Amino acid sequence: MSRLSGRVAIITGGARGQGASHAERLAREGAKVITGDVLDDAGEATAAQLRGEGLDVTYRHLDVTEPADWAAAVSSADRLDVLVNNAGIIHVNPLVEETLEAWNGLLAVNVTGTLLGMQAAIPALQRAGGGSIVNVASIFGVTGSEGYVAYTASKAAIIAMTKTAALEHAVDKIRVNAICPGGVSTPMNEDEPEGGVVPLTPLGRRAHVSEISGAVTYLASDDASFVTGTELIIDGGYLAR
Ligand SMILES: NC(=O)c1ccc[n+]([C@@H]2O[C@H](COP(=O)([O-])OP(=O)(O)OC[C@H]3O[C@@H](n4cnc5c(N)ncnc54)[C@H](O)[C@@H]3O)[C@@H](O)[C@H]2O)c1
Repeated sequence: MSRLSGRVAIITGGARGQGASHAERLAREGAKVITGDVLDDAGEATAAQLRGEGLDVTYRHLDVTEPADWAAAVSSADRLDVLVNNAGIIHVNPLVEETLEAWNGLLAVNVTGTLLGMQAAIPALQRAGGGSIVNVASIFGVTGSEGYVAYTASKAAIIAMTKTAALEHAVDKIRVNAICPGGVSTPMNEDEPEGGVVPLTPLGRRAHVSEISGAVTYLASDDASFVTGTELIIDGGYLAR
């Protein structure tokens, strides 16, 4: 398990949930990992726990909507090989009840945060001679879902931005891919009524975070050396219907 030894990765939303799991998995594969989040206490605690297991994980405050935070995070690393744009937020509002404030707030984190991350990371990835960006979209970027107009718009945008970035930076040997998880058990959906997407998921359950981290690790590593501009669906069969 050393597919990422010598590599440096930044993972946003790394304080908890999927981001914390991705940090652990990439570090177990040998990467030096920098996690960023706005939940500083949880972020520090997660990184400290992983360091206690012998993993090279450090936390820093990184609000993905703040260009200055991005600049500081990238310049804190001696080099950069992998960026996982994982931070994201969600809310439920029927389309006609969606407020401009809620819409703008969600797009600022999910879409603008992903753009700013790629803009900050790409020069460092170029200096490293190439690298891998993994953008976290969702099955809700591929299909509609009632009540999630802002979230579906944001995740569809992430898939589209991923393809454009892949085209623009193939020449730099920077691969850019998206993942589209289905339901995953994390704090994001613990309050979801009636099991959320589970009744529509052929495998009949949510994913464990580690099942998503395997895909992120694959895309980050040289095992995916010919994979760019794609969206990898990890959904227990949800979209097969
Ligand atoms: N949980 C699911 O079922 C599911 C399914 C598909 C996709 N996703 C996506 O997976 C990603 C991870 O979500 P999760 O399920 O681990 O949920 P989560 O809520 O546990 O984690 C999201 C993390 O992003 C952080 N974050 C929010 N705003 C931020 C900001 N401005 N700057 C930096 N960090 C910020 C949060 O503090 C949190 O730690 C998200 O992009 C989410 O949209 C989740």
